[in-house]
Amino acid sequence: MIGIIGAMASEVDGLKALMGNVTVRKISSVEFFAGELSGKKIVVAEAGVGKVNAAVTAQTMILEYEADRIINIGVAGGLDPSLEIGDAAVAERVAEHDMDTTPLGDEPGFITGLDKVYMDCDAELTSLIADCAEELGIHTVRGTIVSGDQFICTNEQREKLIKVFGAAAAEMEGASIGHVCEMNGVKFCVLRAISDGANSESTMTFKEFEKIAAANSIKIVCRMLERIK
Ligand code: ADE
Repeated sequence: MIGIIGAMASEVDGLKALMGNVTVRKISSVEFFAGELSGKKIVVAEAGVGKVNAAVTAQTMILEYEADRIINIGVAGGLDPSLEIGDAAVAERVAEHDMDTTPLGDEPGFITGLDKVYMDCDAELTSLIADCAEELGIHTVRGTIVSGDQFICTNEQREKLIKVFGAAAAEMEGASIGHVCEMNGVKFCVLRAISDGANSESTMTFKEFEKIAAANSIKIVCRMLERIK
């Protein structure tokens, strides 16, 4: 079973509409749509915004649906200078930028227990989804995506994420899904379409472009489902 998680309705509704043989279950306040698309068994959920919602949803997919691969889709603020609205960022690795035990001598983003900052995405899923985005003619950057329970909307926050984590894009869920997957030995990848520049204009830009960007990420994941083994 392949799990697909988005935070908001705009990030998953287009996918749910394409599925066949759907059964729906509500677990921990989240609706899970299990069914088929392109001959693949998938479970899709709108987790809600932020790291805790995403973690609960990923863990439920693993325990209740035996998901052995999880794909996180949706929108992000672009940090790499080449990224424009509608482009794609595909994570090679993810980090929780708001994890901070630096007063205890740890590096920024260090996750005690996993004992590292960066969690590697599955190489095969990552290259497949990035190839699918490029084949659709969408400019795609592969790199580090960071997550935190903050909407990034100041140039100061933006510069910090670039300097400290070398991040290509910022969002609010991918790394917590990576964290859960790593704890469970489950493969994962993160695909984000750019809705804003994670800067002082991002609040306005996000409102204007979120739906267009989310539709791009759905288009890419649909192509991936056609090709995935
Ligand atoms: N998702 C889309 N844009 C974002 C931003 N600027 N910060 C955090 N998450 C986002």
